[in-house]
Amino acid sequence: MLAIIGGSGLAQLPVLEVTHRQVVRTPYGDPSCALTFGRLAGQNVVFIARHGYGHSLAPHEINYRANIWALHDQGIKGIVAVGSVGGIRPDMEPGKLVVPDNIIDYSWGRKHTYFEGPERPVVHAEFSSPYDAELRQRLIKAVAASGHGGVIGGVYACTQGPRLETSAEILKLERDGGDIVGMTGMPEASLAREMGVAYAHLCLVSNWAAGKGSGPMVEFDATTGAKGVEAVMAALTALLSAA
Ligand code: HPA
Repeated sequence: MLAIIGGSGLAQLPVLEVTHRQVVRTPYGDPSCALTFGRLAGQNVVFIARHGYGHSLAPHEINYRANIWALHDQGIKGIVAVGSVGGIRPDMEPGKLVVPDNIIDYSWGRKHTYFEGPERPVVHAEFSSPYDAELRQRLIKAVAASGHGGVIGGVYACTQGPRLETSAEILKLERDGGDIVGMTGMPEASLAREMGVAYAHLCLVSNWAAGKGSGPMVEFDATTGAKGVEAVMAALTALLSAA
């Protein structure tokens, strides 16, 4: 069974045939919401809305440890995390799907490891390539098969939020090598690695990053957003159909 984490704009999976929901408690507290189990493209899937059902949790308020723990506890084969991002690189324009291949983490103050305290002595998880190579390849094929196209590769810069960045901050991220910017990719990816769960990221560009669009302010466009959700669903359906 594959797990899907839904981000902003994806608090539920429109085409999931829901079988049941389950509240899961974890040693790290409560996940963002109950897990939803169902079938998509004939495959079993478990889904969680990262920000909770009513989008009640800001990126820094999400209990990433509980979410990953709860999914891992279901015996999943991997996690496809969906997230919306701002586009920094010129070809990462609003509406595009991106499957990044690396991460720079600028978030802070989040509970970001399972290895702390006397009972869980430190382990330095290997993280040179933060995404699972095999699951990522499957996702890339699915994006190609979805008919919506997408950009393969790119560096995901994770900021703290919840505010958006200044245009100077985006220039700094760009100089650092960042191609897209979001607020929730970490510590989600590294916690999955600590748990030994395959994790890949499907990003939907919802806006130009600060200073990159034509206007002075970051703008979100509802039509692009709705089309983006369609593209995400097409890619997820293709991924599961191929399984
Ligand atoms: N910055 C950070 N996170 C985001 C953005 C952005 O421009 N768009 C969507 N998530």
